[in-house]
Amino acid sequence: MLMKSDGHRGDAPHGPDPGALAERFPRNFVWGVATSAYQVEGAAHEDGRGDSIWDEFCRRPGAIKDGSSGERACDHYHRVGEDIGLIASLGANAYRFSVAWPRVQPLGAGEWNEKGFDFYDRLIDGLLERGIEPFLTLYHWDLPQALQERGGWMSRDTVGRFVDYAAEVARRYGGRAASIATHNEPWVIAILGHEAGIFAPGLKSQKMAMQVSHHLLLSHGLALQALRAQHCAAPLGIVLNQAPIHAATDSAADLARARLDDGLTIRWYMDALLLGRYPDDVLEFLGEDAPQIEPGDMAAIRQPLDFLGINYYTRHLSGTGAPLDRVESGREVTDMGWEVFPAGLSELLARLHADYRLPPLYVTENGAAYRDHLADGRVADVERIRYLHRHIAALADALEGGVDVRGYFVWSLLDNFEWADGYSKRFGLVFVDYATQRRTLKDSALWYRAFCARARSARAGGPAATTRRSNER
Ligand code: GCO
Repeated sequence: MLMKSDGHRGDAPHGPDPGALAERFPRNFVWGVATSAYQVEGAAHEDGRGDSIWDEFCRRPGAIKDGSSGERACDHYHRVGEDIGLIASLGANAYRFSVAWPRVQPLGAGEWNEKGFDFYDRLIDGLLERGIEPFLTLYHWDLPQALQERGGWMSRDTVGRFVDYAAEVARRYGGRAASIATHNEPWVIAILGHEAGIFAPGLKSQKMAMQVSHHLLLSHGLALQALRAQHCAAPLGIVLNQAPIHAATDSAADLARARLDDGLTIRWYMDALLLGRYPDDVLEFLGEDAPQIEPGDMAAIRQPLDFLGINYYTRHLSGTGAPLDRVESGREVTDMGWEVFPAGLSELLARLHADYRLPPLYVTENGAAYRDHLADGRVADVERIRYLHRHIAALADALEGGVDVRGYFVWSLLDNFEWADGYSKRFGLVFVDYATQRRTLKDSALWYRAFCARARSARAGGPAATTRRSNER
């Protein structure tokens, strides 16, 4: 299966033939690529953008592995036209990105920054001109630093600030965005940012982290209410990171730990959003560290969702023994040390489908970091192609099992600023030479392009797929 490439390379991508796989999906399935503002935009202090907690965190000695920051990142702010061209050249029909709150409201309250909004106008209009659907995320971790100085997500006041911000962004883009997600991965924000302290703002308290998670969920619910009150046209939802939790051994202690971890990472968010309550076992475990909840909060959190985004990378092994999240003999891992476990994606989606009344799902992130090398204008990332192929196959299994999944986004379009790992981990379909900002399509990009082309023309699409899906329930 040979793809003619326009101006890039004409040879066939290595790796498994995408044709048969593409035919397992309906024709209107969304095939996208994803990024987030702080990880790609750069231009951190241009055109009136304010500081975010990530700008501040990166200044802390030792916080970022290679001492870097998102100051320049992929310079996407200045290269947005070129990058939209890249997305179009892949044949992807959707792009998931986030709006940087401090770019459009530098202090997180009060004045709006028109130059910041101009950038997202250019981005969204550029995407639409190329037939690419804009999937917008409101908050991908870059809180205005000015709000952090007033307590950040620990403070209930930030909830109201977020609702104002969400309402303004939706007022401007709600008619053009294909969807609006409030938060990206509230678990990561709460726990890695406020308990583990390895992400901004770098705090270390379980009590704080749980209060933050509650405020994030509350801000999501109140934002959805506000956006619906103003008749926002875009479908509204939220994005959660989830990994199926497996006990490391059959010991009673490991099984109990796995159940608790499942509660802390999956049920805490799913139960709150879809059932309007936090799980009892987790509340009991937290004791004094449980968040303060005011009357009406849980009802506010439980708003109808038009969609739910799931970010999936690996499974999680829970146990009380030695650290388990790193390389163990015989396990295939990525450059993050994360196990390659495609079956976890179908398992996870089937479980959510069985346990909750779900809105339509999107896999809003899936991908892998590998040690890519650019040689003679080419990046031969065979492992990434295999990773993507196997996960997309697992997604097809879930779909065929009756889960209502509507789309899939590769993390990421570009190599970018990987948070505390700086630029040391490469997740892109497109290789970025940070010194020159030159972009080169990796072999995985060529494979995904071939896949998207086949998906568009796949015969499995159209009426047959629709009938199959509606007959299954
Ligand atoms: C996420 C993160 C991404 C990461 C990716 C790889 O949403 O999980 O937002 O920003 O870069 O997950 O770790």
